[in-house]
Amino acid sequence: MAGLMATFGRYTHAVVRGVPASLATEALRSCEAEVDLDRARQEHADYVEVVKRRLGLEVVELPADEALPDCVFVEDAAVVCGDTALITRPGAESRRGETEVIKGALKKLGLNIVEMTDERATLDGGDVLFTGQEFFVGLSKRTNQRGAEILADAFKDFAVSTVPVTDGLHLKSFCSMGGPGLILIGSSEHAQKALKIMQQMSDHRYDKLTLPDDLAANCIYMNLPDKGHVLLHSTRDMFPESFKVLEKLKDYLLIPVSNSEKMKVDGALTCCSVLINKKPNI
Ligand code: GLY
Repeated sequence: MAGLMATFGRYTHAVVRGVPASLATEALRSCEAEVDLDRARQEHADYVEVVKRRLGLEVVELPADEALPDCVFVEDAAVVCGDTALITRPGAESRRGETEVIKGALKKLGLNIVEMTDERATLDGGDVLFTGQEFFVGLSKRTNQRGAEILADAFKDFAVSTVPVTDGLHLKSFCSMGGPGLILIGSSEHAQKALKIMQQMSDHRYDKLTLPDDLAANCIYMNLPDKGHVLLHSTRDMFPESFKVLEKLKDYLLIPVSNSEKMKVDGALTCCSVLINKKPNI
């Protein structure tokens, strides 16, 4: 476990998937908003470029599937920790078909595959916050207690606590890790309440950074050789007040990433990749 903590945020590979045209009209969403498909695709291509060229990860790019409008949100289909990949059973029936291709890609990368086959279980990766020391699993419209139990079985080295998600889609719709021991959290009442529960349930102490906008609290933290602390976060245009808070993070390589169109279908930054730290020997 100590080894995993020392490498918190260290990634070598990312799995991403293309944006199908069906995302614009058929992807699940909580609000009606017109999606500009070209822009969604451009924003996604820019995101992949950042991960690949600027950060130097090896990126496995899977093709979009028109029959799976939400397939770009690969995070929901798998939870990877160390060399184990838990293939989830997504809460939305229309998304269950997304897991097969992700499973194949993760298997090819040499990860040990554990599948969530219990038909009573549901779990979306967007509900899973791994802090480096433990897991928090949001119980939401998409993830249930049985899903959390199966996750706990798959990652036995770590404590797993559940947190009610009373508003928004997923746990990580209002929080994410901003570094080792640092939780980024939105300022809404439900986000703050969830944080309090996480703090009460944990044996560890976490620092927090509160952002005015819940969605801006979904960032991607990495710790990369030659780059140090890296944070991919929403742009100033999207969330000017939250941007000002993030700018205060010292010693970080801060990389703003546009995500306006996928956000219209409840897709945040973490949703669009599965990150892996692949040991040279696996
Ligand atoms: N559109 C993302 C989701 O609802 O799962």
